[in-house]
Amino acid sequence: MITFTLNGKSTQVDAEADMPLLWVIRDLLQMTGTKYGCGLGVCGACTVHMDGQPIRSCATPVSVVAGKSVTTIEGLSKDASHPVQQAWAEHKVPQCGYCQSGQMMSAAALLASNPSPDDAEIDSYMQGNICRCGTYPRIKAAIKSAAK
Ligand code: FES
Repeated sequence: MITFTLNGKSTQVDAEADMPLLWVIRDLLQMTGTKYGCGLGVCGACTVHMDGQPIRSCATPVSVVAGKSVTTIEGLSKDASHPVQQAWAEHKVPQCGYCQSGQMMSAAALLASNPSPDDAEIDSYMQGNICRCGTYPRIKAAIKSAAK
């Protein structure tokens, strides 16, 4: 049994220690906002926060989060009121939408650590989140808007 905090709630899962956190979140806990893209830690679709830091949940064994606090897109705010979520809606960022929960989790982590990032800092921080629809200009605009 592995115990961690998920979106503010103490959570216990009966899982093998090496099961990817992404499978635990999606398959065992039925929280499907976090997406599976590459499964190799390179696309960013599965990004969640562990103690406030963005991590790739597909490449993180669940044992790593034991005793830690994990936040998924479902826990970013209760009612989509996080500044990043509001900016995403305002700028109509998503196209197909698949990568966007990961994009927003990375953007939220960026702004938590750097409330006023410049273009280069946004590019650098967000480069690990891939969008096949090419919504990058709107992502950048939304991050700047949320940073205001
Ligand atoms: Fe985890 Fe691509 S699914 S980084």
